[in-house]
Amino acid sequence: MIDQETSAPARLPWQKPTLTPHRLGGLNKFGSGHHHQHLERVDGVEIRQILKEHGSPVFIYSERRLRENVRRLRRAFVSRYPAVQLGWSYKTNYLGAVCAVMHQEGSLAEVVSEFEYQKARAAGVPGNAILFNGPWKPRRILEVAIPEGARIHLDNLDELFLVESVARDLGIIADVAIRLNFDTGYTETWSRFGFSIENGQAMEAARRIGSSPHLRLKGLHSHIGTFITDVRAYAAEARILADFMAAAESQTGCVIESLDLGGGFASRNSLQGSYLPPDQVVPTFEQYAEAITTALLEATRGREAAGKPRPVLILETGRALVDDAGYLVSTVVANKRLATGQRGVVMDAGVNLLFTAFWYHHEVRPVRQLDGFPEDTTLFGPLCMNIDVVRHSIMLPPLDVGEPLVFSPVGAYNNTQWLQFISYRPAIVLVGEDGQVERLREPEDLASVLGQERLPERFRGPFTASPR
Ligand SMILES: Cc1ncc(COP(=O)(O)O)c(C=O)c1O
Repeated sequence: MIDQETSAPARLPWQKPTLTPHRLGGLNKFGSGHHHQHLERVDGVEIRQILKEHGSPVFIYSERRLRENVRRLRRAFVSRYPAVQLGWSYKTNYLGAVCAVMHQEGSLAEVVSEFEYQKARAAGVPGNAILFNGPWKPRRILEVAIPEGARIHLDNLDELFLVESVARDLGIIADVAIRLNFDTGYTETWSRFGFSIENGQAMEAARRIGSSPHLRLKGLHSHIGTFITDVRAYAAEARILADFMAAAESQTGCVIESLDLGGGFASRNSLQGSYLPPDQVVPTFEQYAEAITTALLEATRGREAAGKPRPVLILETGRALVDDAGYLVSTVVANKRLATGQRGVVMDAGVNLLFTAFWYHHEVRPVRQLDGFPEDTTLFGPLCMNIDVVRHSIMLPPLDVGEPLVFSPVGAYNNTQWLQFISYRPAIVLVGEDGQVERLREPEDLASVLGQERLPERFRGPFTASPR
């Protein structure tokens, strides 16, 4: 630029220097970042078409994946151990269709509350196909569940006395299991649930049941934690339960028929803070099965010689069966530049729908190949709450308003822990094995939310405040 009067070069206004880091599109030691992948279809059905018909956001489940998962799990165990029974963990996902698939595939119902018990019964599950866990089972539901033949898993001594008194009043004998907690050496002990083996409470409970004319000890149960990637923890659990079984039988004279190892197998998700991708840290069903059944066969070897059958192995696997069968599709509603320089994107689904965003880094994929330079991006939900961040940092290409993003795996614990908070909960659909898309849950609207509210008469009437 030339100054017209002096013909000298003009001075440019001073500008504060900035450094812009040069990002290589999310390259890392495993190759290029995930944003290069996109997901156009679920089991052959176009996601855009589902959005058109059911709105955004929308949850999509794959029936094919669900069935494949449960069949793979069963095969892994049944091929190694003679008697295996699955129990579907309702709290992981109690959508009617998901439970129905699990029951069609041979799973019992594993429930942890009055509501879940009633839900299973309403779906046609007989009482004797229900495993009743949980730290609180009110008397009114025990009075229903015990005569219906549900297997009650006792959590504490007060519950033991309560179940005994219900059975006595009904003049029947209740079949029970006791939930045990103990140190596996590989996991943190969840001692708030069940009876401790180490402090002697567990054997005390077994003896108390053994001496009761109204109770019969039929099973042992434990659930050592969740998202457990070290299969040695399960081998230890199987050994500890088998040893306790032998000790309890000899001290009480009861015959234990089943050992329930609970759930906790990891799903193909990325736990926050985990450096390696799920493919490298999550054991296969075969690896879990090998560890558990080897330990169990070994620990129960003398049983058949003594004329007792080996115990039925019960598994309450939840997240590992349903997580990767579920997708959440959410749409970009706004872009912004944060004070830090970071790009922010506002989506139409937040932590109200995606509770597991608090502990996982889900895969996030557009529904088509997107061009443009990937940039570090924060994904916000639509809630007017600071906590509503579905991803703090992810490399994504530029996203126009209206662009859909697919979050997965999201099939476990989101559609049970989601909240009607600030906005409506959306539709849930299933892509069937035949490629048909069916609604599993209607989206909420004002009427469904107001349906539970009651407005006392004195609050009804015209709006009286006047805007200034
Ligand atoms: C008693 C019991 N069984 C099974 C499960 C299912 O666990 P996961 O989804 O980790 O397999 C849970 C979950 O907390 C549980 O509490």
